[in-house]
Amino acid sequence: MDYLRIQGPTKLSGTVTISGAKNAALPLITLTLLAHNKVTLTNTPEVADIKTLLKLLENLGATSTLKNHVLELDTSTVNHTMANYDIVKTMRASILVLGPLLARFGHCEVSLPGGCAIGQRPIDLHLKALEQMGAEITIHAGYVNAVAPKGLQGAHIIFDKITVTGTANIVMAAALAHGKTILVNCAKEPEVVQLCEILRDSGIDITGIGTSELTIIGTGGKTIDMVDFEIIPDRIEAGTYLCAGAITNSTITLAKVRPDHLDAVTAKLEQMGCTIEIDGSNMTIHPAAELKHVELITQEYPAFPTDMQAQFLALATLAKGTSIIEERLFENRFMHVSELQRLGADIRLNGHTATVIGESPLFGADVMATDLRASSALVLAAMAAEGTTNVHRIYHLDRGYENLEQKLLALGAKIERLKE
Ligand code: EPZ
Repeated sequence: MDYLRIQGPTKLSGTVTISGAKNAALPLITLTLLAHNKVTLTNTPEVADIKTLLKLLENLGATSTLKNHVLELDTSTVNHTMANYDIVKTMRASILVLGPLLARFGHCEVSLPGGCAIGQRPIDLHLKALEQMGAEITIHAGYVNAVAPKGLQGAHIIFDKITVTGTANIVMAAALAHGKTILVNCAKEPEVVQLCEILRDSGIDITGIGTSELTIIGTGGKTIDMVDFEIIPDRIEAGTYLCAGAITNSTITLAKVRPDHLDAVTAKLEQMGCTIEIDGSNMTIHPAAELKHVELITQEYPAFPTDMQAQFLALATLAKGTSIIEERLFENRFMHVSELQRLGADIRLNGHTATVIGESPLFGADVMATDLRASSALVLAAMAAEGTTNVHRIYHLDRGYENLEQKLLALGAKIERLKE
């Protein structure tokens, strides 16, 4: 297995180009299951999760080529509807094939994704919504078996909780359903907005885009003529690099960003004393003269994103004063805490709240990545720590950060990828 060796403390400088958003690309790739034409997706991030999903689609009979961030996908040859365990277990977002496969073929068998490090990650809301649309769903031997022999019917669905991939799955199912679907309490993440925009541009009557209520008039089972498009920039990758500037006390510029997708993150960095300059699709961070403590509560978009919680927790270890970070979305998203403590951080955990005593000097050590965003937090802390840090199990990082060490090396970090 690979690990990253990082020397700290290090200063950064220069410009980093942000890649396309993994969490936008995943549902957009499964959306092509609703199309009868070949589709080209540009600005596609070449990360492990994308390659895993493309492998799943190829197992179903689709063909794809991904080169220089250009993905060409043709699902017209799909002739299987079983998403099997050996792929789904490696990436739970594979559940995003459920809605499109059921809508297009009237039946599918998708392995239950199972939990992951940060939580149990149920899909009950996805299944309940599909049942309301007329699907018959049974769970047997670890698989979701879904059938809708007469096709899916439009319904009035109120999500008990806001779910990002749940909203995406049901929006895609509703696009091919018979009649009107009204979805209430939808996720408003930019990744969901782009999915809805592309459906609209592909001829689907969808209103309420960007709000928590969506109305979709389905095609009654007819596949769509899907438009080509460019995937939006990754707001979480961008937020991570902003934190890299803040934690190393460096001025760096991010290129190809959507600053409007980062308002909650920018606001918190400014509260901590940083200055953020926005110039079109560029963002420049100037570090704080004295980093101030922060209070964070993770919530759905547009509030502060849970996917940035670990990175800010790392940053808070250096701030002046005590920071309070509350994780409201996932039940186990503090695994980075014990690893940060190995670097010298002074953090107290009490249920869903972490209290971070600031101005704790960090010293290099061996640490272990536990999930995607936790691993990026360890890399950030390692660049601020005195000495050498080895971050192990970085296959977690490779799932969602494209060329992380190359991008950090170009900014001046002392980082190299080695084999265990
Ligand atoms: C998406 O996961 C993202 N993944 C996650 O990013 C992100 O952390 C999460 O949204 C929250 O923003 C992708 O987009 C591929 P949810 P998702 O359904 O859709 C509960 C990363 O680091 N829930 O919005 O799986 C659930 O347990 C990843 O890139 C149910 O109870 O998250 C959680 O508490 C990590 N029943 C809350 O809702 C359901 O049927 C939000 O989950 C579905 C969800």
